[in-house]
Amino acid sequence: MHIKTDFLVLGSGIAGLCFAIRAADLGTVAIVTKKEKVESNTNYAQGGIATVTAGSDSFDFHIKDTLESGAGLCKEPTVRMVVTQGPDRIKDLIDWGVHFTLREEPYRTEFDLGKEGGHSHRRVLHAKDLTGREIERALTEKVSSKKTIQIYENHFAVNLICESQILGKKGGKRDTCIGAYVFDIRNNEVHTFQAQYVVLATGGAGKVYLITTNPDIATGDGIAMAYRAGAEINNMEFIQFHPTCLYHPEAKSFLISEAVRGEGAILKLKNGTAFMEKYHPMKDLAPRDVVAQAIDRELKKSGNECVFLDITHKDKGFLKKRFPYIYEECLKFGIDMAEDPIPVAPAAHYQCGGVAINEHGETNINGLYACGEVACSGLHGANRLASNSLLEALVYARNAFTRISKTFGERKDAGIEIPSWNPGGATESDESIVVSHNWDEIRMCMSNYVGIVRSDKRLERARRRIDVIQSEINDYYWDFTITSDLLELRNIATVAKLITECACLRKESRGLHYNIDYPERDDKNWLKDTVIKKA
Ligand code: FAD
Ligand code: SIN
Repeated sequence: MHIKTDFLVLGSGIAGLCFAIRAADLGTVAIVTKKEKVESNTNYAQGGIATVTAGSDSFDFHIKDTLESGAGLCKEPTVRMVVTQGPDRIKDLIDWGVHFTLREEPYRTEFDLGKEGGHSHRRVLHAKDLTGREIERALTEKVSSKKTIQIYENHFAVNLICESQILGKKGGKRDTCIGAYVFDIRNNEVHTFQAQYVVLATGGAGKVYLITTNPDIATGDGIAMAYRAGAEINNMEFIQFHPTCLYHPEAKSFLISEAVRGEGAILKLKNGTAFMEKYHPMKDLAPRDVVAQAIDRELKKSGNECVFLDITHKDKGFLKKRFPYIYEECLKFGIDMAEDPIPVAPAAHYQCGGVAINEHGETNINGLYACGEVACSGLHGANRLASNSLLEALVYARNAFTRISKTFGERKDAGIEIPSWNPGGATESDESIVVSHNWDEIRMCMSNYVGIVRSDKRLERARRRIDVIQSEINDYYWDFTITSDLLELRNIATVAKLITECACLRKESRGLHYNIDYPERDDKNWLKDTVIKKA
């Protein structure tokens, strides 16, 4: 099938849906998403969206907190732009049907504001502890009401299509993205999507690590595709580990929101001793990099596998009302958070780097935009401030739309005939063990060597292992017909390589990148992004 559309949006999380809702008023939109439409990191967001709404708060406080968390690498104008747009973007969400939790009477007209690590004020708007689910509900409903949007579920974007692949490289000329090859998982076919504008909104890559808060979709497909197409990739070494993922043998990827610490929970060792005061004046509400590194240090020291999050001093009724989802999930594992401290450990959570974009969401490839977690805008620097990512996605989805709407219709269709996908001589594989083995090996290697604490030796080991795995995957990729497992494997290998390469480049410790061979921050030489682009 060959599908022509004005806008091709890859991904149906907050970034993709918000862009699509706006673009639908300009032209035709195809949203391609690899599972069911709500399945995304967005759908699992708990804490909420950081935005200045309270009288006691100010844009300057939110900017300062973001810059401090970012450990010197945030782009200040970007931070200012995002923070000051916040209230208007929240208003858009409310207009599109999102319900945020309000305070009790007599303050029913005010938002109930949560607090999280690194924030000097309460400013996190939330829908109980199911903020992401509420956002996906409202946005997918809004999308359904737009006649110009067609949504393709169970469709996996394989590769971006750029002019240079069809017309050959023209020395020095900026390339232009004109679509993508998309694998229709149910029908086992690859379709060609041709578009004037392609928006990458494919989210992050938590699955590159063994233990992650992310759902299975988070395999870094967009970053890998953009890299293969020649996009600039920045700051991939800054992988954020969330300090408090539920530690239980039967629990898969269950986050205990930082908002629980915002309501007074305290991190404790097995023997009941609180430890965060040793590490930061903000104690349990220090920025996330500090808390995750502190837990890692305490675990290594004690030989234990988890620490405990204690909020048993709070009233059960309050906990059930404020955190109904977390309360119920913990109960399924025999933990009553009103009576038992919750076992927790850090887990890969968020990718601060990604495809480099400017303030309009433009990449270095014409016609290719990126927004949300796949992108690196300069907002997060070396460590994202909690609950700033949903905000970033909202702002950049709008900025990209605003930019495009100024010139929409002026771009000439170059009349390029895109050839259909060529499967070559690929046959069906009877060795899927290769895929599962390499999948496990990459994730193990990244967790052991490119985790919270790194060293030159560990990074070098990871680099060597990933090179070998990548060449094995490459052979396999061209010999056998594609499956979504194989596509994801190829992508996590690429992203693992990008993270490791960026980590090898940065010869200092800053924010989320801690290397024991360079334990200090080096502002003289390293107040800059790491940049990688395919040769
Ligand atoms: P996503 O929401 O991840 O959406 C990506 C979409 O792309 C999905 O639809 C996916 O299926 C699709 N996709 C991916 N690859 C392909 C492909 N090859 N082809 C087709 N489709 C593809 N941030 C906050 O600000 N506040 C919070 O409270 C918060 N809580 C969080 C809790 C959890 C458990 C997690 C995991 C993250 C949390 N975050 C939070 C981070 C935040 O949720 C994400 O950064 C944000 O939702 C990313 O939005 P996105 O639209 O960029 O990507
Ligand atoms: C959380 O609720 O702890 C997650 C918030 C975030 O990742 O921003």
